[in-house]
Amino acid sequence: MIQRHISKGRWQFDYSMTISIIAAVTQNNVIGKDNDLPWSLPADMQFFKDTTKGHHVIMGRKNYLSIPEKYRPLPNRTNVIVTRQNDFVAEDCVVTHSVEDAIEAAKESGEDEAFIIGGGEIFKQSLENNLVDRMYITRIHTEIEGDVFFPEIELNVWKEVKREDCEADDRNEYAYSFIVYEKS
Ligand SMILES: NC(=O)c1ccc[n+]([C@@H]2O[C@H](COP(=O)([O-])OP(=O)(O)OC[C@H]3O[C@@H](n4cnc5c(N)ncnc54)[C@H](OP(=O)(O)O)[C@@H]3O)[C@@H](O)[C@H]2O)c1
Repeated sequence: MIQRHISKGRWQFDYSMTISIIAAVTQNNVIGKDNDLPWSLPADMQFFKDTTKGHHVIMGRKNYLSIPEKYRPLPNRTNVIVTRQNDFVAEDCVVTHSVEDAIEAAKESGEDEAFIIGGGEIFKQSLENNLVDRMYITRIHTEIEGDVFFPEIELNVWKEVKREDCEADDRNEYAYSFIVYEKS
C-alpha cells in the first residue's frame, strides 16, 4: 500500500505493508474440522499457493501443525508461527508470540503484503484488533459441519472489490467464489 502526503510543500510517499487474510469459508462460516479442512478443493489450494508465493504467511501454531509434515514449512514463503509457548521450535520458520509481533517481523524484512492464513483464533484476533487491510475469501457454496469458524464478515466495513464464481467439477466437489474484500 502506498500512501502519499504533502510535507514541506512536496509530495512524500510512504511505502507500508498490506496485511491480508486468506481463507476458505463455507456458507455457514466453517473453516475447519478436527484440525483439518473438511473438503477437497484443489482449485482453492492452487489459488492459495499462487497468491501467497514469495510472501510472509502468518499462522497459529495449531494451523502449522495441521499441515502434513512433508508439506511444512510451506515452500517459497516465509512461515511465521504464532504461539504462547516460549520453547516452541519449528525448523526454518520464524516463531513469534503475538500476531502483532508476526506482522512486525514481516515488515522488518521489507514485505509488501503479508498473509494471515489462520486458523480460527488468529483470524478472529486479527479482525478484532483491526489489523487487516484486505481479505481473500474463497466462499464455498455449501454448509458443512465443523468446529472452527470464520467471523461473520461485516458488510458495512468490508466492500467486495473482486469476484470470480466457479462451478463444481470432477476435482472440486463444491461450487465456490474467489472474493476479495477491502475496507470501505
Ligand atoms: N479454511 C481455511 O482457510 C483455514 C485456514 C487455516 C486453518 N484452518 C483450520 O483451522 C483450524 C485451526 O484453527 P484454530 O483456531 O484451532 O487454531 P490456530 O488459530 O491455528 O492456532 C491457535 C494457537 O495459536 C496460538 N495463539 C493464538 N493466539 C495467540 C496469541 N494472542 N499470542 C500467542 N499465541 C497465540 C496458540 O498456540 P499455543 O497453544 O502453541 O500457545 C493457540 O493454541 C484447523 O481445523 C485448520 O484446518 C482453516
